Amino acid sequence: MNEIIIRGGKPLEGTLRVQGAKNSVLPILAATVLHPGRSLIRGCPRLSDVEASVRILRHLGCEARWEGPDLAVDAAPLCRWDIPDCLMREMRSSVIFLGAILARCGRAETSYPGGCELGPRPVDLHLAALRKLGARVREEGGRLCCEAGEMAGREIALSLPSVGATENLILAACGAAGETLIVNAAREPEIGDLQAFLQAMGCDVRGAGTSTVRVVGRQRTRDAVHTVMPDRIAAATYLAAVAAAGGEVELTNVRASHLSTVTAALHEAGCEVCGDEERLSLRSGGALRSIGTVRTAPYPGFPTDAQAILMAALLRSRGATVFVENIFENRYRHVDELCRMGADVHVADRVAVVTGVERLSGAAVRCTDLRGGAALLVAGLAAQGTTRIGEVHHIRRGYEDPVRDLRALGADIEERP
Ligand code: UD1
Repeated sequence: MNEIIIRGGKPLEGTLRVQGAKNSVLPILAATVLHPGRSLIRGCPRLSDVEASVRILRHLGCEARWEGPDLAVDAAPLCRWDIPDCLMREMRSSVIFLGAILARCGRAETSYPGGCELGPRPVDLHLAALRKLGARVREEGGRLCCEAGEMAGREIALSLPSVGATENLILAACGAAGETLIVNAAREPEIGDLQAFLQAMGCDVRGAGTSTVRVVGRQRTRDAVHTVMPDRIAAATYLAAVAAAGGEVELTNVRASHLSTVTAALHEAGCEVCGDEERLSLRSGGALRSIGTVRTAPYPGFPTDAQAILMAALLRSRGATVFVENIFENRYRHVDELCRMGADVHVADRVAVVTGVERLSGAAVRCTDLRGGAALLVAGLAAQGTTRIGEVHHIRRGYEDPVRDLRALGADIEERP
């Protein structure tokens, strides 16, 4: 098993181009199934979750080929509508294929998706939404068997703005007759990117980014080319790394407006943040101050995916910061690992209190999940001495090559088998 080794305490300097967004490319790859032809996904990040999506596409009979940084998918030869358990378990986002396969084939069979690392992650909203569209969904022996029947568009209100359920419903609605109106839809920017890809493909989807999305199904689709939007959580990770380690870094390929809650928090902590919509610079002396309570919330609130990362940046701040995790039940698993490095963090239920310490010391730690792993990178860069991070496959799910990127910024970091 690989480990990442960091000799911390070095400031970071330089310019870095941020990868394409994991959370938008995964539903986009599922959406390629809708069109019996070619889709070219430009700037597709090479992540293990993307490789898992490619394995699903190939299992379904699609062709998927890397062309440098782009991924070309031909879904014309698609010949199956089932996804085996071993592929479903590789990642949570596999469930998004359900809506897409249903729209294309009129039926779909999968098992429950994997990825329960943040506590229970049910798919009840996904299934309820598909049923409201007219699909027949049977849950039998761990398998989900869906038949589209006469799927017809209608108004469907989600009981909470789930990102995945919104995406699944948009994809299924592309195969339903007439107009579907999704009320209380999630407003995350990645849904806007999915909409942009679907529009390029000829689908009629509008309203992404607001809480009402309208889909008119059964449009004639065409070959599409789409460039994946920048990854706001990868950007947040590198900003937090500079905030914690000190230095000055410029990020390119960002959408600053998608990062406003994160940059506001880092500014409040004492970092200088400037730039325009497409590039962001951050300067930090490394010694930060605590900030007001950070509450995670659906977009445009503070992203749950940046909670662990910001926490890691504040471990050496003056004073105490309170985090309240409102999206997932079990999203503090990184805290024990941070405490091994000398951090002072106390968790009670959904609340974590971080009291800044004078210094962090390198230690042997293990990634507990994707963003928890990213938090260990941030803490390791700010710690004195050597940090050895194990179970780094979690990090590979969402970051193309963090060792390459951080080394380019002057970090003393390497990966060893
Ligand atoms: C997506 C993101 C993930 C991010 C999360 C919240 C992708 C690939 N993943 O995950 O990185 O952390 O949004 O911003 O885009 N819920 C239910 N029933 C359901 C579905 C969800 O109860 O059927 C609950 C979840 O348990 C959670 C909340 O709703 O408490 C939000 O989850 P959701 O927005 O669906 O997250 P994901 O789409 O899984």
